[in-house]
Amino acid sequence: MAREFYENVDLTLLQPLFPASAQCVFSSNPPETFNLHPAEKSTTARMSPLRFRDFGHGRACARLALEQLELIDCPVPVGKQREPLWPDNIAGSLSHTEHFAAAVVARKSEISALGIDLEPAEDLPENILTRVCRVEEIERLHPAGDRYRQAKLIFSAKESLYKTLWPILKLFIGFHDMEITLREQDCSWSATSHTDQYPTDLVARLQGRYLLTDDLIISSSFILVDGSTTG
Ligand SMILES: CC(C)(COP(=O)(O)OP(=O)(O)OC[C@H]1O[C@@H](n2cnc3c(N)ncnc32)[C@H](O)[C@@H]1OP(=O)(O)O)[C@@H](O)C(=O)NCCC(=O)NCCS
Repeated sequence: MAREFYENVDLTLLQPLFPASAQCVFSSNPPETFNLHPAEKSTTARMSPLRFRDFGHGRACARLALEQLELIDCPVPVGKQREPLWPDNIAGSLSHTEHFAAAVVARKSEISALGIDLEPAEDLPENILTRVCRVEEIERLHPAGDRYRQAKLIFSAKESLYKTLWPILKLFIGFHDMEITLREQDCSWSATSHTDQYPTDLVARLQGRYLLTDDLIISSSFILVDGSTTG
């Protein structure tokens, strides 16, 4: 892989978003060349050049994250619902934007499931506010100023939640099925299920965190094996 990729990788930025046992890779430079594993190539033939670049950027981060767990040259193929297929006993997630990508992995003996989401630091378009947010969430948004930026954070939290729960439930989750409560004091969030489709104890065990940078809104979620809280 191109040396510039490694020069622009940060292994610490995302660590506060996850328990210490998770391996987190954040990259701010899509690699110009990337050798996909043969098992990862099945869906790439029809990708546009931009989509292929994002896919390769995510896979480059995933490969490096797995290396931190001493899993060398491990493919992460694509599942039927586009989900990444991690090695047995590994929980993982990835996300990418035009410039940035991230991958997080952990052993399932420590973290049952996890999700990461990166979004550009932009407002949620006003015309999709009610599609993304439930009434209760809209009522709690700041009355002015960064109202739509906060709504974008709720969107991001829901995306990370979906990525966390998908490998366990294999069920689509609608934006109105879950209510996100933000805790600005410690940049965390929690979710409440509004349907009986998903086990409520699983949703209650899910822990969410977020990080706001100049460029990005970053959300994480994870479920610990024993459901205990973690620092
Ligand atoms: C799948 C989805 C979450 C991806 O999020 P996104 O913001 O569009 O894109 P990101 O860059 O953050 O993430 C893309 C990566 O997510 C991963 N992903 C895709 N589908 C996934 C799934 N079902 N489960 C877990 N991860 C998935 C893939 O690795 C993908 O990258 P790749 O295609 O290059 O491998 C989103 O497109 C989606 O379908 N959302 C609707 C469901 C939802 O969020 N409901 C809200 C629940 S409250």
